[in-house]
Amino acid sequence: MCSNSLDSKDVALIFGASGITGWPLMRECLSYPSKNTFSRVLGLSNRPLSRETAYLPDDPRLEIYTGIDLLDKDQTRQTLETIPAIGEVTHVYFVAYTGHGRTAEELVRLNSALVDHALLALKKLCPRMKFFTLQTGGKGYATAGVPWPPAPWKEDLPRLPEPYASKIFYYAVYDVMIRHAAGSSWQWSEIRPSYLPGFTPHHNAMSIAHSLGLFIAFYRSVKGAGATCAFPGTPGSWEALHSDSSQDVVAHFHIYTSLHGDKTHGRSFNVADGEGTSWKVKWPIVCNYFGLKGVGPSAQVAGELQGTKWLLAQKYLWSAWAKDNGLKGDVLENMQWDILDTALSLPLRIDYDLGASREIGFQETMDVGKGFLVAFDRLRRAKFLP
Ligand SMILES: NC(=O)c1ccc[n+]([C@@H]2O[C@H](COP(=O)([O-])OP(=O)(O)OC[C@H]3O[C@@H](n4cnc5c(N)ncnc54)[C@H](OP(=O)(O)O)[C@@H]3O)[C@@H](O)[C@H]2O)c1
Repeated sequence: MCSNSLDSKDVALIFGASGITGWPLMRECLSYPSKNTFSRVLGLSNRPLSRETAYLPDDPRLEIYTGIDLLDKDQTRQTLETIPAIGEVTHVYFVAYTGHGRTAEELVRLNSALVDHALLALKKLCPRMKFFTLQTGGKGYATAGVPWPPAPWKEDLPRLPEPYASKIFYYAVYDVMIRHAAGSSWQWSEIRPSYLPGFTPHHNAMSIAHSLGLFIAFYRSVKGAGATCAFPGTPGSWEALHSDSSQDVVAHFHIYTSLHGDKTHGRSFNVADGEGTSWKVKWPIVCNYFGLKGVGPSAQVAGELQGTKWLLAQKYLWSAWAKDNGLKGDVLENMQWDILDTALSLPLRIDYDLGASREIGFQETMDVGKGFLVAFDRLRRAKFLP
């Protein structure tokens, strides 16, 4: 059985290093829980990525390797083989994901292939591997077409029944991991964030902090500093509890879990910033960041378009606004607004129970809304937000 003692010979490897969880993992592995935890941190991604444009520290322990295509089994192994001393890897964080917008069946097929190819290569090339974390999420708890279980959601909720189960790629990637773990010496955990405010070095159309920040910043430009911004959802979605899993907290949780295999091996964990929260608490905070007064949905003016419907009606202003603010001209066009819409309009309680993560000793919390503010700062620095 693996030991998880901290020693500077431990080497971290991150699949999906340019993503919303992979990016903070590259940074945090350099210093959390201590600077001595890992002697090397290897970040792997598909598209080109430079340390400078990714705002990553100039730390010689951080090595970035791009061009890996996890959809290709042979190329995955060959790319890993080119990494010097790949056999030293001890801790692996799997936060790659592909296929957004494809059918549920394709998401199952494509994402299963990513995990399968990574693990086939790791088992061949990384004999010192101690721990593997797999990120999934909350979409395995509920889906359209079946009654939603009461929240707060706990990890031991049963899987959804067929015909839904076989369309949930989280179940599929988990099963791939379990198949590879059988008979192997390494340990594993499945990690389930909820809404994930954060920064990515590439434009990320699904990023809720980016879409929300763009909406509020644009609203401020049109309505003026200090204007009132009515919450564009409903009274139900204003109050409904949900969880935020900010990118630094999620990154810390991956690392923590991988270093405490005696308590975490073979288990699934929710991860979040703290107890369930609501837009009622967060809306004034995120609006204030952009110099607006965020108020509830009762302040909506009857007959006026709200939220993304209002934003889409201003499309003729988008390109000039983006350029005036030093942003890429098509940044608003390239956002996936339906994701923000859903987040702001869901009237159901979907927060997480954090009992399991607390029981293993992970006590980190983040103030309500702070994950968004940190992400806004990072997005501004990269000129993704004005
Ligand atoms: N984002 C959220 O709000 C959220 C919330 C809860 C759960 N989750 C779950 O968390 C998991 C990870 O998603 P994420 O959102 O953190 O990831 P993400 O931000 O979408 O990033 C995906 C990463 O995977 C890499 N990748 C994509 N295709 C690849 C390929 N063929 N070969 C190698 N690498 C490839 C990307 O590299 P390039 O950038 O180089 O293409 C990128 O680094 C998913 O299961 C997702 O459903 C996400």
